[in-house]
Amino acid sequence: MEHQARVPQPVQTRIELEALIRERVGGRPFVSVSNREPFVHSYRPDGGIEVRAAVGGLTVALNAAMQAAGGTWVAHGSGDADRAAADGRGRLMVPPEDPKYALQRVWLDSGDSDLYYNGCANQALWPLCHNAFTKPVFREDHWQAYRRVNRAFADAVAGVVGDSDAIVFIQDYHFALLPKMIRSRCPRATLLHFWHIPWPVPDIFAICPWGDQIVDGLLGNDVLGLHTPKYVKRFEEFARAATSWQLGEDGRLTNGRHGVRVREFPISIDFAAISASAASKACDDAVQRLTRDYGLEDKFVVLGLDRIDYTKGSIERLVAIERLLERHPELRGRLKYLHAGAPSRESIPAYRELNAAIAALEKRVNAAYGTGPCAPVVSIKRHLREEEVLALYRRADVCVVSSLDDGMNLVAKEFLAARNDERGRLLLSEFTGAAWELPGAETFNPFATDDFAERLHAISTDSGDHGSERMRKMREHVRTRTVYGWLADILEALPPAESAR
Ligand code: G6P
Repeated sequence: MEHQARVPQPVQTRIELEALIRERVGGRPFVSVSNREPFVHSYRPDGGIEVRAAVGGLTVALNAAMQAAGGTWVAHGSGDADRAAADGRGRLMVPPEDPKYALQRVWLDSGDSDLYYNGCANQALWPLCHNAFTKPVFREDHWQAYRRVNRAFADAVAGVVGDSDAIVFIQDYHFALLPKMIRSRCPRATLLHFWHIPWPVPDIFAICPWGDQIVDGLLGNDVLGLHTPKYVKRFEEFARAATSWQLGEDGRLTNGRHGVRVREFPISIDFAAISASAASKACDDAVQRLTRDYGLEDKFVVLGLDRIDYTKGSIERLVAIERLLERHPELRGRLKYLHAGAPSRESIPAYRELNAAIAALEKRVNAAYGTGPCAPVVSIKRHLREEEVLALYRRADVCVVSSLDDGMNLVAKEFLAARNDERGRLLLSEFTGAAWELPGAETFNPFATDDFAERLHAISTDSGDHGSERMRKMREHVRTRTVYGWLADILEALPPAESAR
């Protein structure tokens, strides 16, 4: 039998995940692979070296898994002091304060790193998989660098795995070619891969000149995870049309020699940790500061919080705010729209253009509807500390997730976790994985900006408690389906160890 019986309750906590890892991974080496590294070393101005841990739910969960399993995390060594902090083979033990597993850094020259990350990954695959609303750029030099980088990672993984029966867990669209490369060199390894972004419909995926090679690379996995059943179906449909692989009776795609299980694993967050931080004194203080600094007393507060990216629908959100103020003058002076989030990928022209377009639109709305302390749009474009993010969630009357296409969207789940008061409304784009997953979510179409504006208006006039039954249901859903459960489900889909077959 391929699957073990599922535990009746989903894994919710780090401790439960650790127990499951010990049982499922057993004595096998555990290797995880990602573009970003969990710890980055950089030089301070005084010449000393400092280490920074990556933030974010996924890193926290993977870190927990790595600490429980031991093993090795293979990632791009991107810090300027990374070489100085590692040994001659690019390895060091982490976490620095309590070393439990090895970090194997992969060195890339700056040319390849730029062409692979800013080129192929983020100008071709990222927009391609987000429905090509922003036109993908397909350049041969970007693709060749992507291949070289995948090969460099395959060398590093093969160096760690050798001919052992290791479990290798690969993250994301930076490594589509890696599974096949590893399989040919490490035939006894078991390969899991999670694709963190949407998978587009076959007609969109078909515009990619390297589509067949990408799918061929991914078919080297044993398990390929995507966020939702819709993405799974699309992947299978393209793979079956483009290759000779077919769905076998056991539900795996197979070419007769190898099978890959393609399945949905909706990613999540550490609900308990976020909920506890949101209830802390530090967060109470941050809410007060926020209210004072931005004059939010008695205001109707709309929050848009995301990494600045054209997939997030920030332009559509601003247009909806503009329409709202135009059509409903009573909201002028009462509405505050907080647009918060860190700029990212700024070496890429489409991102620079987006930043300029957002700034121009914000200026236009504020010029029309109030300047200075009365300005309706407040722009907070920087990296925010955890308590600042949680304070924004707590103070928002409505959190708007307006993505044009989004694999899951964790802002939606974090907002729910932060609202221990079970108040506040989540207005969620129907084009997110979260809209598929969250029971009874209040969804909308961000492209329909007039309707979008009216939905916000309806929320602004709703003085009742209409949101909270929904909030309770959605919070309960996320509370019981955490990022630890996500990882546990992926590991439970593993074929059993050779010794148990
Ligand atoms: C988002 C996506 C992830 C991706 C990450 C990369 O969070 O959902 O799939 O790995 O962006 O961000 P980066 O800053 O490394 O380009």
